[in-house]
Amino acid sequence: MPALRAAIVGAGLIGMDLFHRIREVDDIEVAMIIGRSRTRRLGQLGEQGYAVSYRGLVEELDDGADFDVIFDATDARTHPGHWERARTTRSLMVDLTPSHVGVPVVPVVNIDHVRHSMNISMVSCAGQASIPILAKLVAHLAPGYVEVTATAASSSFGPGTRRNANEFIESTRDAILELTGSPSAKFMASVSPARPAPDFRLSVSLADCGRQVPDADLESLVQSVQDGVRRYSPGYSARLTCNTPEVVTVDVAVQAVAATLPSHAGNLEIINGAAVQVARLHGRSSGQRQGQPGALMTA
Ligand SMILES: NC(=O)c1ccc[n+]([C@@H]2O[C@H](COP(=O)([O-])OP(=O)(O)OC[C@H]3O[C@@H](n4cnc5c(N)ncnc54)[C@H](OP(=O)(O)O)[C@@H]3O)[C@@H](O)[C@H]2O)c1
Repeated sequence: MPALRAAIVGAGLIGMDLFHRIREVDDIEVAMIIGRSRTRRLGQLGEQGYAVSYRGLVEELDDGADFDVIFDATDARTHPGHWERARTTRSLMVDLTPSHVGVPVVPVVNIDHVRHSMNISMVSCAGQASIPILAKLVAHLAPGYVEVTATAASSSFGPGTRRNANEFIESTRDAILELTGSPSAKFMASVSPARPAPDFRLSVSLADCGRQVPDADLESLVQSVQDGVRRYSPGYSARLTCNTPEVVTVDVAVQAVAATLPSHAGNLEIINGAAVQVARLHGRSSGQRQGQPGALMTA
């Protein structure tokens, strides 16, 4: 069966990592890389033989371009217009921006939702890293409140990410509430200019817990989440660091293992690894690759 034909919209940090990542798999091909102006990067990709566009997604679709999947790696404020046009096509939209438009999906938590919507939101890098832990532990600890803090290296946040800072905070918090069952949540993020650049790290805390669980049981739950996420983000690690009646804390770190990324760019790796999983499952569901195993990923 043919590979899924994918468009990558936005040739920035997220878009270019997706481009390299998709070249590594045989069931998706990069059909077009779409920007909005004649940048040097797009020019180089064109010289290497890739189909590139300088005029944006909407014009390409208006001119009849046809894709199985569109990865939107532009900007949360641009995405609604992209979706307005793409929803009239047969393409699956995989939204890497924190636009809050599509159905939020975190593969180890609810990848089956890919079968029920044509616009999948990948939430955010911090959502992809924290929600698997929270979805597992909230069910066992019944906290009254959860809190996530994230730190990422400045060089791994492009101008688009900086412009979307508010959307990043809000959509991460909202997806935590929607996908974990916690009654209350706070999310905070900081961008570090330190040298050498720090790894992508999060502290995930659950407070006012209605139940207590022994260390060994919590450690085994955390381990099972880590094993699940590592299937698409191999540099993911999670460790229980505090278990008291007041608070349970899990420290998460994500390193990038892709040869094309510095190891501190785990924020790019985890969201893009998850996005590729989503597209592949869509391909299997829609019969593009019949005969491939279609196992759902749950931790
Ligand atoms: N970096 C991360 O860790 C991360 C993680 C998760 C999610 N995200 C989200 O992913 C998105 C991109 O982030 P980024 O860090 O990759 O930013 P970036 O490096 O600034 O990349 C954004 C790219 O999109 C292009 N673009 C903007 N509007 C466009 C349009 N209408 N049509 C085509 N291309 C367009 C920009 O082109 P110009 O050069 O012409 O502006 C730029 O090349 C943001 O929404 C961000 O919140 C980022």
